[in-house]
Amino acid sequence: MSPGYRKNNKVKRSALTGIWQHFLDAHPEYLARHYWWAYLWRFGVWFFDHQPIINAILFGQYQTLKTQALRACMTNRPKGRLLQLTCVYGSLTPSLMKSLKDDELYLMDVADVQLGATRQKLGDKEKSRLLAARMNAEYLAYSNDAFSTVLLFFLLHELPPAAREHTLDETLRVLQPGGRLVITEYGQYPRQHFLCRWWPIRILLLHLEPFLGNFWRQDLFAVLRRHAKTYNKTLRQVDEFHCFSHFYRVCVFEVEGPDDR
Ligand SMILES: C[S@@+](CC[C@H](N)C(=O)[O-])C[C@H]1O[C@@H](n2cnc3c(N)ncnc32)[C@H](O)[C@@H]1O
Repeated sequence: MSPGYRKNNKVKRSALTGIWQHFLDAHPEYLARHYWWAYLWRFGVWFFDHQPIINAILFGQYQTLKTQALRACMTNRPKGRLLQLTCVYGSLTPSLMKSLKDDELYLMDVADVQLGATRQKLGDKEKSRLLAARMNAEYLAYSNDAFSTVLLFFLLHELPPAAREHTLDETLRVLQPGGRLVITEYGQYPRQHFLCRWWPIRILLLHLEPFLGNFWRQDLFAVLRRHAKTYNKTLRQVDEFHCFSHFYRVCVFEVEGPDDR
């Protein structure tokens, strides 16, 4: 028996005993494997969707980041449709719906339990303005240039590198020229930040967020520009907000099409 065969079998056997397997159900493997407890397990969804918990996870920065993300989306919002790329815990979606007044909000997520939890946070009138659909962010079922604004709130650092590439590619595909992209995320690797210098916290963070290390080291703007080019679009960064000593950021980009240049 070759060592490779033995190793593969061992991986399969341990995978079979893994609780995460129960959460596969057409979810991406990384989501079930690394985040079942946070996003797919009903108890986890209930537990984490409490304001004090979310605030603690974001080291007290939730309200600031939410306010900045809403401001970035809504100030002089380009005319057209707004897409929130995946569900988020907390009051971001209800606040977005409120800011949109009579306009619709497009929302997608690969997990039904998340879409259901978001719906529950809305009143009847708001529910009728929420166009929610289950789909994978790596393969969006929207047409090219379908949206004038796309919001990503703490999604990218949770994606493995390949899934992140696909998701950003799809994001640039569905954003129309003249459109706006708002990304709320961790900042670039904050080497000097006390949370990074204190190794127990750094290790815990990277254990809970296994793809954050890769995201930290990525030049987000360069990656976005590369994907925009695929669709003959260019990207301009128009704003960037930092908080918690650059640990978090809200970036705002505008898309230009071939006719704008
Ligand atoms: C936006 S992220 C993180 C949100 C952040 N931790 C918060 O709640 O403020 C979590 C969401 O992304 C969804 N998700 C992860 N990978 C996805 C994918 N490939 N396609 C669609 N949704 C995805 C999960 O189901 C989950 O609802």
